[in-house]
Amino acid sequence: MNDEKQMNIEIIGTGRALPSKKVSNDDLAARIDTSDEWIRSHTGIGSRYIADEDIACSDLAAEAAKNALAMAAGYTGDDPAERDKAAAEIAGTIDMIVLATATADYFGTPSTACIVQDRICARNAAAMDITAGCTGFVYGLETAAGLLSINSRRKRALVIGAEVLSRMINWEDRGTCVLFGDGAGAVVVEKSGKNSGILQTLLFADGSGSESLVMRRGGTRNPFKKGEVIDTPICVEMNGQEVYNFAVKAITDTVEALMKAGNISIDNIVRIIPHQANARIVQAARRRLHIPAEKFYMNIEEYANTSSATIPIALDELNRSGQIKKGDLILTVGFGGGLTYGGNIIIW
Ligand code: ACO
Repeated sequence: MNDEKQMNIEIIGTGRALPSKKVSNDDLAARIDTSDEWIRSHTGIGSRYIADEDIACSDLAAEAAKNALAMAAGYTGDDPAERDKAAAEIAGTIDMIVLATATADYFGTPSTACIVQDRICARNAAAMDITAGCTGFVYGLETAAGLLSINSRRKRALVIGAEVLSRMINWEDRGTCVLFGDGAGAVVVEKSGKNSGILQTLLFADGSGSESLVMRRGGTRNPFKKGEVIDTPICVEMNGQEVYNFAVKAITDTVEALMKAGNISIDNIVRIIPHQANARIVQAARRRLHIPAEKFYMNIEEYANTSSATIPIALDELNRSGQIKKGDLILTVGFGGGLTYGGNIIIW
């Protein structure tokens, strides 16, 4: 039992999946009243990937999961058949799938995690979704780590952040539709005796801000009614200024709290991976924290805000490109709907 407590939860594989269709700011400006200049100067976004109509959350999630599984099995090439073979070798050893999303395949049931479990043939895995907005992946890592730690028979888990936000936004609301993109990221975590892995996680919530970022329709509070004519699909409604102010403070507070909890200084940290909601939010937070820009990893220009997927997509990019190495100390910082926020300290 004591040995069990000393085990670390290590990330042994990462993966990501993006839809093939890339949509630039100029493409959007051809359809709605906006411009590349406005979007870039207010958000740092240059493009986003948008899923075709037949693609749902589980499709992107399963692809990202297979890439992470294949890496965990030792395969990092780009041959799809070899990738699937490698992923299949290890899929049966996964004990738990935790999938964070705000844009599940179905409302309520089944969970998207169960659909992914079937798709990747992880037949021995329990599976569940969690809803924690854009902080979903940070919450998911801690959930998986806790579930692995509490039971000695569980060894490995898949943690996925996956979103098809393009289907849950009002394309006539230029204040929100330019911000989001579709995508998925995944990691395989394993209980190990090594001196690396998730060192510390802090999770926070402030439900008093729940109305500032909300998908108002379709739930038990505001169900669709018989005979109702639906003009706008279920979509994200946001008070941009409120979310902006919350987000800057959430990053600042989380980074400071993580450094204190882990007893680390900024010099120890190789990379901070913030949720990619808006480059201006990250800039404002880093100025308050007096942390050099190069410590923060940013890829929002290419992907826009993919909610729970931004952090695992960034982890996979950094990992596959060799920008993070064994032993590096990394901070993740999430913030989003709920309102939720939090972060992980990871020794890579
Ligand atoms: N193109 C052109 N003009 C626009 C656009 C657009 N896409 N969107 C808004 N505008 C206009 C507005 O109509 C307004 O015009 P007006 O002055 O004539 O009325 C003007 O730009 C300024 O609008 P604001 O809403 O005040 O713009 P602001 O500088 O606050 O930026 C933004 C808006 C980018 C949404 C900002 O508030 C923000 O980043 N908030 C944080 C929200 C966020 O990042 N959410 C992501 C999801 S939540 C999460 O991930 C945590």
